[in-house]
Amino acid sequence: AQQMNVGLLGFGTVGTGVLEIIEQHQDKLAHQIGAPVKVKKVLVSSLDKDRGPAAAHTELTTNADDILLDDDIDVVVEVMGGMEQARDYMKKALEQGKHVVTANKDVMAVYGSELLKTANEQKCDLFYEASVAGGIPILRTIVEGLASDRITKMMGIVNGTTNYILTQMTKEGRLYEDVLKEAQALGYAEADPTADVEGLDAARKISILGTLGFSMNLDLDDVSVSGISSVTSQDLQYSKQLGYTMKLIGIAVRDGDKVEVSVQPTLVPHEHPLASVDDEFNAVYVYGEAVGETMFYGPGAGKLPTATAVVSDLVEVLKNKRLGVTGNSAIIPQFEKQLKTDEE
Ligand code: NDP
Ligand code: HSE
Repeated sequence: AQQMNVGLLGFGTVGTGVLEIIEQHQDKLAHQIGAPVKVKKVLVSSLDKDRGPAAAHTELTTNADDILLDDDIDVVVEVMGGMEQARDYMKKALEQGKHVVTANKDVMAVYGSELLKTANEQKCDLFYEASVAGGIPILRTIVEGLASDRITKMMGIVNGTTNYILTQMTKEGRLYEDVLKEAQALGYAEADPTADVEGLDAARKISILGTLGFSMNLDLDDVSVSGISSVTSQDLQYSKQLGYTMKLIGIAVRDGDKVEVSVQPTLVPHEHPLASVDDEFNAVYVYGEAVGETMFYGPGAGKLPTATAVVSDLVEVLKNKRLGVTGNSAIIPQFEKQLKTDEE
């Protein structure tokens, strides 16, 4: 079968992981997709960096149009981060009839509904599993796995960087600044870690979860957010002595037509399962009226876990393309449809 070509926007922590998984799992991917898949071109900001042997297998460019206007590229994978430029590139890719996979929660939390609308109009897929909780397939779980239920609450740890910092400060007595630097070196933190430590990254993820889980278009401005930058080692030690572990917890609760969403440092009793979620790991509780309580746990940040989610989305897109059913992205909020049904 004809080879499927991917254009990668970004070749940092996640982008290099995506190339690695595509190359190392080629046989399995080709079997599932029904055709070999190749990263044809990669967008970077500089051609001067030493990128090691991985870059030898693909073509690097600093001009996005080399990818967005290349008729041989079937899917664009956006893992460059940032807001406006990433949104513009994704929109242009969709307008060119290309499918898009992204790990970008910043863009999806703010411009998600606009981009998904363009995707639908273009009969293209737009998937974003990696944008929330890294390697945990939580979006698909909410949309597909719990499709028959009515979700009432979601709660958990959805930022790896802050969980790494809090864990290392509490368990190893390390300093905030040192651990933050380490989280950056390990590839967990955002390029500018302010969004991590001030809780905004978690707020974006919780708002995506709420939008999908509750089928409502949530506004980020309505999320009450506080981060961990002012938490001291002393706060953590006192909490520990009193039997609590501090965690940055995001909560989205629905009560009738009202939804409350918040992110804040929270004292969790030592015996609660969330207290044992350490380092860059994430955990999300999802409560459904019929299913009751469910919990999902796994790595929330890092190269290969995140790239796994991205490449799984890619497989889905390419399978849909082969079957001729693109443009029905499973992970699209159904709020417009639901609102109409409710009114009828
Ligand atoms: P990095 O900073 O490691 O990599 C970004 C890459 O994009 C680099 O290759 C950079 O080029 C390129 N790039 C950035 N801006 C531009 C631009 N304007 N033009 C061209 N190239 C550009 O980021 P990550 O891989 O960590 O994250 C990527 C995305 O994935 C972000 O949206 C992030 O939020 C998301 N994400 C990250 C996770 C993680 O654990 N790291 C987990 C889940 C999601 P160059 O190499 O030349 O500098
Ligand atoms: N900076 C993010 C985190 C990456 O630490 O959780 C994963 O989205």
